Amino acid sequence: MRATVLAPSLLAADLGRLAEQAAAVVEAGATWLHVDVMDGHFVPNLTFGPAVVRALRGATEAYLDVHLMTAAPERWVDVFADAGADGLTVHAEATPHAHRALQAIRERGVKAGLALNPLTPLAAVEAALEEIDLALVMSVDPGFGGQAYLPRSDARLRTVRDWIDARRLDCRLQVDGGIDATSAARAAAAGADVLVAGTAVFAAPGGPAAGMERLRQVLSANTRPM
Ligand code: DX5
Ligand code: ZN
Repeated sequence: MRATVLAPSLLAADLGRLAEQAAAVVEAGATWLHVDVMDGHFVPNLTFGPAVVRALRGATEAYLDVHLMTAAPERWVDVFADAGADGLTVHAEATPHAHRALQAIRERGVKAGLALNPLTPLAAVEAALEEIDLALVMSVDPGFGGQAYLPRSDARLRTVRDWIDARRLDCRLQVDGGIDATSAARAAAAGADVLVAGTAVFAAPGGPAAGMERLRQVLSANTRPM
């Protein structure tokens, strides 16, 4: 397993100061930025489009981890690749053509991720593990920040981690939703190696750098041994 990555979710940032907030977490040590794209169809919320990804690309060299919560994500692959995404994650539930979307992402030289909602059978990602760079186990229902981590996520992460390790795959295991000091420890112990955190970083009482530091402390104590 590779070093654990903390990916601050910009959904929880002060959006009037987006570039500044991105710079603050990068300064605090973030190497990834998680960008939640929502289309008002696949999830009941609207957020960022390609113009925002392009603006971020111009403002930072951090890895832009774009989480597509859109219907028919295959329609958006080229648009977000052109905008400068480093990774594009599509939802298995969003399309009958997840395989085509993942192939299109990789053809653009972008890292391909496949996400599963909390009740989606894990078999949907098991079949794809050889062909993706990242598996995302959602630990809340996608659509909003600030929700509570679903306890079922621990067992789901463990199962996917065991598959990745048993097959010796070079695939990251990401968890997204409700990550705070307590759930970060659980998710890392269950095998997650990319933890997305919005509220726990950007709404931390001491500010984003303090939020990152708190999570890092927890992770250094709880990362699953290799
Ligand atoms: C939820 C998004 C998450 C969200 C996480 O649909 O995919 O990335 O920003 O926010 P927190 O960490 O507040 O649960
Ligand atoms: Zn997300």
